[in-house]
Amino acid sequence: MKIIVGSDHAALDLRPKVVEYLISKGHEVVDSGTHRDRANYAVEGFKVAENVAIGNNDLGIVICGTGIGISIAANKVRGIRAALCHNVEYAKLSREHNDANVLALGARFLEEDEVFNIIDAFIKTKFEGGRHLDRVETISDYEHSCIDC
Ligand code: RB5
Repeated sequence: MKIIVGSDHAALDLRPKVVEYLISKGHEVVDSGTHRDRANYAVEGFKVAENVAIGNNDLGIVICGTGIGISIAANKVRGIRAALCHNVEYAKLSREHNDANVLALGARFLEEDEVFNIIDAFIKTKFEGGRHLDRVETISDYEHSCIDC
């Protein structure tokens, strides 16, 4: 899979480990940064989300201190369903029920092992479709209803 990974400064240590981990599992990985001591989580979230939304990458992973700011930002990009996941069960459900295409993580609240387990679950779990499809499509329809353009 082609996966893009981005973070703000809160994951300067964690993000390279995530990138290495994904490469070790055979994925094609884009590291979108940041490499700066201070970064704006919104800017980093938009970069990842846009690259997933336009189809350059299959999935995205965004990381900030809590995962909250960067997931809010990623979800502003049309076509993005970013899920802030605190454990493996969240990650599985975010794929099965919500067809999440961006995984958001909080670097300051997760152990490294948990991060890798969450990522594994997110990548390997498939969208269930069925009754969940209609709900995901409702979100997509809303995004395209264009109330202010
Ligand atoms: C940065 O200090 C911190 O605010 C950011 O990483 C994130 O937690 C925001 O939601």
